Amino acid sequence: MLNEKAEFLRSVRSVRRHVQERLEQGEATAFFYQPPLRTGVSAAGPEQTGEHQTQTPELATLAKRVANCRKCGLSQTRGQAVFGEGSAQARLILVGEAPGAEEDRQGRPFVGAAGKLLTRMLEAISLQREQVYICNILKCRPPGNRNPLPEEIVACEPHLREQLKLLKPDLICTLGTFASQTLLNTHETIGRLRGRTHDYQGIPVIPTFHPAALLYHPGNKQYAWEDMQRIAGLLKLKIPSKKNPG
Ligand code: URA
Repeated sequence: MLNEKAEFLRSVRSVRRHVQERLEQGEATAFFYQPPLRTGVSAAGPEQTGEHQTQTPELATLAKRVANCRKCGLSQTRGQAVFGEGSAQARLILVGEAPGAEEDRQGRPFVGAAGKLLTRMLEAISLQREQVYICNILKCRPPGNRNPLPEEIVACEPHLREQLKLLKPDLICTLGTFASQTLLNTHETIGRLRGRTHDYQGIPVIPTFHPAALLYHPGNKQYAWEDMQRIAGLLKLKIPSKKNPG
């Protein structure tokens, strides 16, 4: 019994030493930026997907409502609604435009080419996708990836506003024109909106270029990198180097 207690205390001391060393090496982020308890809320719900990944009961209820939503014509053409995924404790929420073909197929946001770039943008400021929350203005794919119609945004926006109310992030990053204009209630272009910190109901908002747009206009990556650094600064993240990852 005494031996077990001594062994236990030795383990505790060893873990404490390890944590202390890593903190001293500047890895505070790894410890203070908690990984998610779980990932992904599928809009399709466990019945359709076979998974049980409910983050909070409130988010699960909303996800189910979104999965069954018929408020606009996209419900006729979608494969499935894409609710969003990530940590329910995320400090940062990224809001994109609408699911594309791959997202519609998988029921997850940003899993295509633009999503891969988004993952790299996050990693450049020492964040893993699982630590943030990612969703879209529109929960359903517009056919042929056309731009969202105003009436689709009006119909879908309450879902996002409810999602944000439940998640209570410290910071929102809007990706591209549609997300930025919708959340900030403005017609200003993304080129004019980015570079400043805005406000959504008391939450700071950083607009930046949509990753899909960056794939077409890589010259804008330097500005997106500035925006990511602004996010890192506001979240007090330690980032290993100030170099643009490209
Ligand atoms: N583009 C978006 O805006 N959202 C996605 O989920 C994928 C691509």
